[in-house]
Amino acid sequence: MDLPRCGRLPISASLPVSGAPGEPGNRHLNAAASAPLPTPAPLSAARAVGRILRYLGRRPGWVALCVGLLLTHIFIELTLPQFLGHAITALGPRGAIATGQLALPSTVAWLVGLVTLRTAIGLVLGPLRNRTALETLGDVRCAVYDGVQRRPFAWHDNSQLGELISRAGTDVFRLQELVFVCLLFAIDVLAGLAGTLMFIFLISPLLGGLTLVAMVPTVGAMAFFAARLQPRWRKVHERHSAMSTVLQENIAGVRVVKAFAREAAEIRRFRERRDEFLRELHSTVNYWAARVPLAQFLFGLGLPLVMWAGGREVIAGRLELGQLATVVFYLLAVGGRIGVIGQITSILQNAGSAAQRVAELLPTPASASSVSTPSLSVATALTGPLCFEHVSLVYDRTPSLRVESEAKDKPVAPTARPAGSGHPALSDVSFTVEPGQTVGIVGPTGAGKSSLLALLPRFYEPTTGRITLGGHDLRTLDRAELRRALAIVFQETFLFSASVADNIAYGRPDALREEIIQAAKAAYADGFISELARGYDTVIGERGVSLSGGQRQRLALARAFLCQPRILLLDDATSAIDPGTERDIQAATAELRRGRTTFIVSQRAASVAQADLILVLDQGRIVERGRPAELLARKGLYAELFQASSANAALPPG
Ligand SMILES: Nc1ncnc2c1ncn2[C@@H]1O[C@H](COP(=O)(O)OP(=O)(O)OP(=O)(O)O)[C@@H](O)[C@H]1O
Ligand SMILES: [Mg+2]
Repeated sequence: MDLPRCGRLPISASLPVSGAPGEPGNRHLNAAASAPLPTPAPLSAARAVGRILRYLGRRPGWVALCVGLLLTHIFIELTLPQFLGHAITALGPRGAIATGQLALPSTVAWLVGLVTLRTAIGLVLGPLRNRTALETLGDVRCAVYDGVQRRPFAWHDNSQLGELISRAGTDVFRLQELVFVCLLFAIDVLAGLAGTLMFIFLISPLLGGLTLVAMVPTVGAMAFFAARLQPRWRKVHERHSAMSTVLQENIAGVRVVKAFAREAAEIRRFRERRDEFLRELHSTVNYWAARVPLAQFLFGLGLPLVMWAGGREVIAGRLELGQLATVVFYLLAVGGRIGVIGQITSILQNAGSAAQRVAELLPTPASASSVSTPSLSVATALTGPLCFEHVSLVYDRTPSLRVESEAKDKPVAPTARPAGSGHPALSDVSFTVEPGQTVGIVGPTGAGKSSLLALLPRFYEPTTGRITLGGHDLRTLDRAELRRALAIVFQETFLFSASVADNIAYGRPDALREEIIQAAKAAYADGFISELARGYDTVIGERGVSLSGGQRQRLALARAFLCQPRILLLDDATSAIDPGTERDIQAATAELRRGRTTFIVSQRAASVAQADLILVLDQGRIVERGRPAELLARKGLYAELFQASSANAALPPG
C-alpha cells in the first residue's frame, strides 16, 4: 500500500523527546498537553473591530480609490456653500453680478457642473464601495470557517452549535454594515466635519470658535451614549444566539421532540428565549433612539448663537452677508451629519459587539500552528510498535466561547475552570501493540473506549503519560500525516448531503469508481447501494434518500476501507448491523486487516473474538487483558459481557 510521503524530516532527525513520563525529556510535552486549550483572550470592541478591518488591507488599491473618490466628493460638498456664499455676496447691491462683472447664467452653470460632478462620483463610488465591502466580508467569512475548522476537538466539544452558527452567520452579516460604515460614513463624517470647521475658521475665527463650542458637548453626548450602548448590544446578540440555539436544537432533534410529545414545551421554551431577546432589544433600541434628537438639540443651539454673533459682525461691516450665509449652510450640513454620526455610532456599537463575537472564531496563532508542527516521518514510525505508557486523559470542559451566563448576565470567563480538573476518562493505561495486530476493546458504557481511540489520531492529547509509535511520541509526528495513515469509523455515523460515491470517497476524493465499489463490497454495502434509484450517484442526506442505521454504518466502513489505512479504528462500527452481516463483513475484511493494526471497540464480545489482544476497560482503567479464550476462562468482566451478549444472541427473535 502506498502511504503518503511528505518530504519531512527523516526519523533519524528525531526531536529530544525520549524518556519515561515525568522525565525531563518529555516534561514539556506533558505540560503542553495539560495546558488550557487556546481559548481566545477577550478582545475589546475596538480591537475586535480593528481585527476585522485588517481584512480591508487585502484590497489596498480599491480601498485607496474609494477613499480618493470619497474625499473628492467631500471637497465638492464643502465647495458648494462657498460658491453659494460668493454668489449671494455678488448679488448684493454693490456685488459683482449687480455691477455686471460676473454673469448670473455662468454662476448657475458652474453650480450645475459641480452638482453633476458630485453625482457622477457618487455613481462610481457606490458600486466600487459595495464590491470592496462585500468581498472583504467574503474574506472574513472564509477566515471564520477556517478558524472554526482548525480548532481542536475539545474546543468543539465545549461550544454550542447554535451559538457557533449565530456567530458565523448573523454576526458576520452584521459586520457588513461595519465595513460599509468604515469605507464611507466614518471618513465622510470625520473629513466633512474637519473640513467644515477649517472653512468656518478661515471665514471667521469667532464663528469657528462658536461652532466648536456647540460641537464639543454634542460629540461628548454621543460618546456618553456610545459607551453605555456597547454592552447592551452585546447582550442583545447573546440573547439572539440563545434563541437561535433553541431553534437549531429543535430542528436537529425534531424526531426526539415529537417522540416524547414535547412540542408544546419546546415552543414554550422558544417563546421564553424570544421574549428575553425582544425585551433586551426593545430597551436597547429605546435608549439608542433617544440620542440623536438630544445631540441635534445640543448642536441646534449653536445656530442661533452663530446667527447672533455673525449678524453683529455683518452689521459692523467685518463680515460679508455671503460669508455669513456660507457659515449657516455649513452649520445646516453639520446638523445633517450629526444624524449620520448617530447612525455610525449605533452601527459601530452593534458591529463592535458582533466583531467581538466573530473575532473569537478567527484563526488563532495556536490553531494555525497546529497544522504545521515540526514533525518526524509517520511512515517510518508505523513500522514499530504502538505503546501506551501510563496514559491518563481528563477532558477539558472549559467553555470555548465567551457567552453571557443565563442566570446572572455575567460573562463566563474562558479560564473559569482549569483544564484537567474533572474525572479522568482514562487512568494509567499502558499496553503495547505490534504492527498488524488486532486489538479488541470492550467494557461497559462510559468505560473510556472511545476516549482511548480518540487519542490515536490526536483528537486529544494525553493529560499525563505518552503514546509512542515506533518509539516516537505521537506529539512529535505530523498530525495531518498521522491522520492520513489512520482511518476511523466513529460511533455515530455522519454522512454528507452528497452522492453515495462521494461519501465513500471522502477520505480519498481521487479514488476510482472501481476502488469505491470494491470498498463498498468489503463493507457489504454494494448490495443495497445497487438497489438505490441512482446507485452510487444517489444523493443522500437532507434532500436525498434516507438510509437505515446499518446502511449508514456500512457506508462509513466502506469510507474507512477505501483509505487503505495502516491503522484502522472501528468504534462500535457494526453496532447497528445484524450479527450475520457482521460476520460476513469480518470475513470480507480479514484480508484487508492483514498487515494493518486494527482497534475494534465493541459491546459484542463476538465482534472481537478474533483479536490478538483484548483490553477490558472499566471506569477508564484496564481491568483485564489477554486473548479472548484466556479471558473467558478467567470468568471476569469480559466473561460477564460475553455471556450477556451470547445470551442475548440466543434469545428467540421478537
Ligand atoms: N468530548 C468529551 N468531553 C468531555 N467528557 C467526555 C467526552 N467524551 C467522553 N467524555 C466522558 O469520558 C468518559 C468516557 O467516555 P467514552 O465515550 O470514552 O466511553 P465509552 O466507553 O466509549 O462509552 P460507550 O460504550 O457508551 O460509547 C465518560 O464519562 C464521558 O462522559
Ligand atoms: Mg464510545
